[in-house]
Amino acid sequence: MIESAKYIDVHAHVNFEEYDPDREEVLSRAKEAGVLMINVGTTLEASKQIVSLSEKYDGVYGIVGLHPTEVTPMNRFNTHDFEPLVAHQKTVAVGECGIDVYRLDPAENKEEYLRIQEEDFRAQIALAVKYDKPIMIHARESYGKILEILKDCFSVYGTKLRGNAHFFAGSIEEAQAFLDLGFTISFTGVITFAKQYEELVRFVPLNRMLSETDCPFVAPVPFRGRRNEPLYVTEVVKKIAEIKGLEFETVRIALLNNAISAFKLQ
Ligand code: NI
Repeated sequence: MIESAKYIDVHAHVNFEEYDPDREEVLSRAKEAGVLMINVGTTLEASKQIVSLSEKYDGVYGIVGLHPTEVTPMNRFNTHDFEPLVAHQKTVAVGECGIDVYRLDPAENKEEYLRIQEEDFRAQIALAVKYDKPIMIHARESYGKILEILKDCFSVYGTKLRGNAHFFAGSIEEAQAFLDLGFTISFTGVITFAKQYEELVRFVPLNRMLSETDCPFVAPVPFRGRRNEPLYVTEVVKKIAEIKGLEFETVRIALLNNAISAFKLQ
């Protein structure tokens, strides 16, 4: 359906149990509106589910990886387990991977958890580069650390290291640092109700921006507080056009094409 697509949600979790009662309807509502979607893995199990969804549905792609909050001494990123999922034809990136300081359990050994999160982040970067796929970055109170790791990896991999900073909530300077590394930056429905994103949305060039929902979380206005779904990415596109003061069609087409080229969708 890529030829007839109008929108894309580059970060969804339609594999989550929130969709168990009506997943088929959620997927068909998106398809009818021309919304492509990329479901993003958080665990090995979730990543397997995502690959099955990609295999089953047209216009549905997958990203596989281990979310930083899932990394524990007992649950590490295992390249051997993930490699066949990464190699899959409809897997378009590795992630979501990164560092999450915010949700670290105070009862745990913080230094140890940060160390293993970093190791697993680097392992996922290496696997993405090996398969010439980008990474989908999750960051929470960790932009400085993530940029430091990316710069270090960039010195080894060069432009083979590509990716997107998902649910971007950093500063203008941090956004610029991601852009300098060649990364794209994506925004969710949070921009429809949180004013502090306006400056960022104005700052990031349209040709370096991607649209996402992060559903089932952060439904945009007018669906705020309800379960989110990929169809609602249309509200994110509208808001980006409004903030940037551009024609809706210009923004819609740019965001779709940016994602098709960033993830080499076909
Ligand atoms: Ni996510």
